[in-house]
Amino acid sequence: MIKMGLIGLGKMGFYHLNLYDEINGLSVGGVCDALPSRSEAAPNTPFFTDYRDLLPLVDAVTIAAPTTFHYEIAKTCLNAGKHVLVEKPITTDYCEAEELFEIAAKRGLVLNVGHVERFNGAVMELKKIVNDPILFEARRVGPFNPNFRNDSIVLDLMIHDIDIAASIGGKAQAVQAMGTPVNSKLADYASVNIFFGGKLSAHIISGRVNQTKERFLYVTQADALIVLDYTTQDINITRNWQTAQIIGNKELTYKNEFVQERLFVYKENALKAEIKHFLSCIARTSDRMTTPEHDLASLKLALTIDSLLRSGAYGETVIN
Ligand SMILES: NC(=O)c1ccc[n+]([C@@H]2O[C@H](COP(=O)([O-])OP(=O)(O)OC[C@H]3O[C@@H](n4cnc5c(N)ncnc54)[C@H](O)[C@@H]3O)[C@@H](O)[C@H]2O)c1
Repeated sequence: MIKMGLIGLGKMGFYHLNLYDEINGLSVGGVCDALPSRSEAAPNTPFFTDYRDLLPLVDAVTIAAPTTFHYEIAKTCLNAGKHVLVEKPITTDYCEAEELFEIAAKRGLVLNVGHVERFNGAVMELKKIVNDPILFEARRVGPFNPNFRNDSIVLDLMIHDIDIAASIGGKAQAVQAMGTPVNSKLADYASVNIFFGGKLSAHIISGRVNQTKERFLYVTQADALIVLDYTTQDINITRNWQTAQIIGNKELTYKNEFVQERLFVYKENALKAEIKHFLSCIARTSDRMTTPEHDLASLKLALTIDSLLRSGAYGETVIN
């Protein structure tokens, strides 16, 4: 039984805590939030306002405090010998993230990052069916959430799509980024092109200026258009599109024919799957879903895009 501690009992922490009861092999050692009033969200559970007081009671922690605190908290927890599941983004600095992975490796500890979309049933299925992609087009938009005014749209939302595109596309070679602040001092809307080399590129639109919440990924292959809905975890595939022109008496009509497939997707709560995966990594019953090198590459790409957006409305760079 893994004794789990939760650090940061805001929105995301609350989602984690609510799932703990449903997961075998886990007991809650205690929770922590800097705000004493948050103890109301975890009745009958040891509660601390300083995460260091929680550490003697637990084997592993989830860090769901604001991103700016991830590095300091994760470093202290790893140095205290605790396994760490840290919400995305792992840190706001590449070298800090590298250092955390080095400490984890040296101490034989699990350090996973909460890229929850990796555990979305549709994304897991997607990886089995994408074989010759040409273009990824992701659209992840929604209304503004003031909680994230200190994170740019890239570290808040786009990082999910960057991570998934890179998990299929491999190493990015160059990026173009365009974005603009609307509700905060940082970009709240961004449109980004990522070139992976060969014929593969990604176009990602992320926004927190929208009146609807949409999370879609379109993957174009020579023989198919794959449409993935992150929210419903559905995948639809269109193939063999053929248009016939029919010239009739004084009129030209078109007949479109295509095959549409709706994939069967095993749908599980993605966050629950992420926590279960963390536990099985600790128990060494499964390998880490991604390598630390992949996680670092995703972060590097996100930070590169973030800095392009911070430096102006438009920028492009080659990734080294
Ligand atoms: N995986 C996802 O899809 C996803 C979605 C939303 C948020 N997140 C990430 O989760 C993290 C938290 O986001 P949120 O929306 O829950 O924010 P939030 O503001 O709702 O919650 C953060 C909580 O942490 C507490 N806190 C602040 N400093 C602390 C400290 N030093 N020690 C302990 N507690 C502290 C705050 O009081 C607050 O209750 C962010 O890193 C964010 O990027 C991930």
